[in-house]
Amino acid sequence: MQTIRQLDLLRSGIADLRAGGDRIALVPTMGALHAGHMALVEAAKRPGTRVVASIFVNPRQFGPNEDLSRYPRKETADTRMLTEAGCDLLWLPPVEVMYPAGFATNVSVGGVSDGLDGASRPGHFDGVATVVTKLFNQVRPDIAYFGEKDFQQLAVIRRMVADLDMGIDIVGVPTQREDDGLALSSRNIYLDEAERAKAVALPRALGVAARAIHKGDDPEIALVVARDSLFAAGFTIDYVELVDAETLGAPDPLRARYLVAAARLGQTRLIDNLAVDPGE
Ligand code: PAF
Repeated sequence: MQTIRQLDLLRSGIADLRAGGDRIALVPTMGALHAGHMALVEAAKRPGTRVVASIFVNPRQFGPNEDLSRYPRKETADTRMLTEAGCDLLWLPPVEVMYPAGFATNVSVGGVSDGLDGASRPGHFDGVATVVTKLFNQVRPDIAYFGEKDFQQLAVIRRMVADLDMGIDIVGVPTQREDDGLALSSRNIYLDEAERAKAVALPRALGVAARAIHKGDDPEIALVVARDSLFAAGFTIDYVELVDAETLGAPDPLRARYLVAAARLGQTRLIDNLAVDPGE
């Protein structure tokens, strides 16, 4: 696997990968890779496809009081994992390549960015949309893979790609979980032992609520029960909501509905989501 840090070298590296007629799949990440990221790489490895991963801890998607400075950076381990997984090229731009002096552009996706994490983390999705647009313009992939754990991010990127005629297929890959159900996340390493034990309450609360709503219970009551159980487990809740899978607005029982949640244990903010009507 080639590791590239300069834009001109990226362009020639991508041209080489395309030379045999292969298409390019992009797996954008912020590093600190785990099995969830590896599932994206595995999904991307298809016949006739060359896989490019990117690692860039994007300052524009972190709020002033968020964890940018302590966000885990594990370049050596990440590079080894991607090499072993059969990734073809790693794009590892320094911050001055991504945001040179004078950078002044912001990509903002209306509607789908506004509620949930968009309300809890103002500016977060502008940062995501801006950096993903840059990554798309740099790598020019045919297809890109994102985890379904970041459910709102996936909806924002799909909206942006459709609205701006980017012509890139966006594939969502199911959330990878620990044996007890906790969704894999680079931020799980912030949890101490006691918090890690409590964290399982999040997927459990969503599971209980999803089953109740699916069998016809009042969604408002199921949401209150879920919030109560998270509170009892020691979480501070940002939101627990039932939303339309595509718009993230009010749910319609005739369309796909998802439970989405964000809650904090100590300093660690966890997010998760679950389909209410799986397989329908
Ligand atoms: O999901 C992530 O890791 C990041 O938000 C992304 C998509 C790589 C943009 O920085």
